[in-house]
Amino acid sequence: MIIVENIWKNFNDKQVLAGVDLKINDGETMVVLGKSGVGKSVLLRLILRLMDPDRGRITIDNKIIGTLQRREMNTIRLRFGMLFQSAALFDSMNIFDNVSIALRTLTKLTEIEIREKVDYCLNMVGLQGVEKLFPAELSGGMRKRVGLARAVAMDPAYLLYDEPTTGLDPVMTESIAQIIRKLQRELNVSSIVVTHDLQTAFTVADRMALLHEGQIQFQGTVDQIRNTDDIIVREFIRGYSRKHNLEMHQIDD
Ligand SMILES: Nc1ncnc2c1ncn2[C@@H]1O[C@H](COP(=O)(O)OP(=O)(O)O)[C@@H](O)[C@H]1O
Ligand SMILES: [Mg+2]
Repeated sequence: MIIVENIWKNFNDKQVLAGVDLKINDGETMVVLGKSGVGKSVLLRLILRLMDPDRGRITIDNKIIGTLQRREMNTIRLRFGMLFQSAALFDSMNIFDNVSIALRTLTKLTEIEIREKVDYCLNMVGLQGVEKLFPAELSGGMRKRVGLARAVAMDPAYLLYDEPTTGLDPVMTESIAQIIRKLQRELNVSSIVVTHDLQTAFTVADRMALLHEGQIQFQGTVDQIRNTDDIIVREFIRGYSRKHNLEMHQIDD
């Protein structure tokens, strides 16, 4: 379980997070929505303790991460799989090496076990026969899938996704969203998906939270967020629907 309590973060006098509270229960997928620049990526970095908050605390697996020594924090980080906005593959390594790098450097698995694991992970994301290719030889959507395969290779308890579908066309977006759902179901992980893409959000979420002006403006189930009277949530959904020409969420004016 991940518990975020009263987190504040300021950059050069810009108050980005101003009292964020959020709880991610075991096995659930929490989508954090919010406009570009609102602090979604910062929130993920704070959870991984790649930076420290000005105030507040984050508890992961019953440990307050702000108090942990480097070694203990590294152990916690190993429980996380992460898909960054750009799939962040190593361009000079082929796909097999990209997916297996953590297995090779951080585990004692044999070569045969590593091969099996890479094969399994690539299968999970619907890729076959790409092991010898290099990232530049793959489409954007395929690179995302490789990123997903790498994120699950170490059997994470938590998966963090930062804008997993940004920059993909609608067909690719839907396909990545479906893979994310499949991973949640089959791997029994807890996930945080950060996105400003409502279509992906509605596909993958168990619960959703809207980050707005430094705080969680609203959180609830998919149905609750669709039906809420909260004016800011409705404005967010309406703005998105208008921009994308969607009528997926009936909102009465
Ligand atoms: N390391 C940093 N140094 C200074 N400002 C930062 C840093 N990281 C993020 N910010 C600022 O914090 C705000 C939120 O950024 P971010 O979390 O990346 O937004 P998004 O919701 O789009 O992911 C932005 O104004 C960004 O410029
Ligand atoms: Mg971001």
